[in-house]
Amino acid sequence: MKTIDLRSDTITLPTDEMIEAIVNAHKAGRLGDDVIGEDEVVNELQEKAAKILGKEAALLVTSGTQGNLVSLLAQTRRGDEVVVEEQSHTFMFEGGAMASLGGLFPKPVHGERGYILPETLESAISPDNPHYARTSLVVCENTHNYAGGTITRPEQVDALAAVAHDHGLKIHCDGARLFNAAVALDVPAKRLVDNADSVQICLSKGLSAPVGSVIAGTEEFIHEAHRTRKKVGGGMRQAGIIAAPGIIALEKMVDRLKEDHENAKLLYERVKGIPNLVIDEPETNILFLGLQNLSISQMKLSEELAKENIKVYGGYGVRTRMVMNRMVSRDDVDRVAVALERLLK
Ligand SMILES: Cc1ncc(COP(=O)(O)O)c(C=O)c1O
Repeated sequence: MKTIDLRSDTITLPTDEMIEAIVNAHKAGRLGDDVIGEDEVVNELQEKAAKILGKEAALLVTSGTQGNLVSLLAQTRRGDEVVVEEQSHTFMFEGGAMASLGGLFPKPVHGERGYILPETLESAISPDNPHYARTSLVVCENTHNYAGGTITRPEQVDALAAVAHDHGLKIHCDGARLFNAAVALDVPAKRLVDNADSVQICLSKGLSAPVGSVIAGTEEFIHEAHRTRKKVGGGMRQAGIIAAPGIIALEKMVDRLKEDHENAKLLYERVKGIPNLVIDEPETNILFLGLQNLSISQMKLSEELAKENIKVYGGYGVRTRMVMNRMVSRDDVDRVAVALERLLK
């Protein structure tokens, strides 16, 4: 029986075309030492990404976590305060890197379905007074993982950016799944970061590349980010072997994210009627099942599903997360729905 893996969209394997692109880049002599800017494939990816994101320049990094860290460190000084949503990835799931490696002081605030309201940011900014850390940056996560793949709309980003900029703050977009938001809203990805100073996108989630993220912003920001990336060990040599699949990810995999969104909706429609199950209609590819009013625990549910070769992530307390991805078909969704209907009733 096929294993259906709903733990994350990071489990997606590269396509054959991606692997061929690595080999072809090598055969064409396009690989080189990227630390000295000589890998043609990396340069192509960075130019393409900058264009798609509407920014002056871009930089390949090893992961989303590294991209967020480099973006934050390149735009702040040690001891500065960074406003983050209280359930954001940068605050909860990046090993406390901004504090331990950057000396940054995270200030978590409550968001509405992951979105920090402009008035919340306004009141979180510390006065310019020696008693306080200097508030210098705000992070906007789009889509928001822990809130359930929720979308921050362009006008909402603009409104948050306006408050940030009025107070001299930078705004960084953790766009690990920015293209999911863009595809769901049918807007160009760049519209979602028009007013963001920096953005990080993951190539290795729904877009299915095996490794890598890209950060983008002004030439000045990328110049600084280059040095910061080196400091955190992110300077890579023949990194074209990462960039080659990354180019395919940007060129050919964005539109297919719609399939993941359709599958998430399909599963939602199938299970929403189960009594006492708490589930929000998915905006993109992430679903959370709230189990607090049911007799089955998150642990038990994942064990029972595992017996049927269906993998889901634990670690979300009384919620079970399911993430649609390229390895999951409509038929698989049907199998998951049947299993849930049986186990949750
Ligand atoms: C919203 C968000 N930001 C950043 C990351 C970090 O990406 P990576 O796993 O490549 O470090 C993730 C990973 O799941 C994420 O969901």
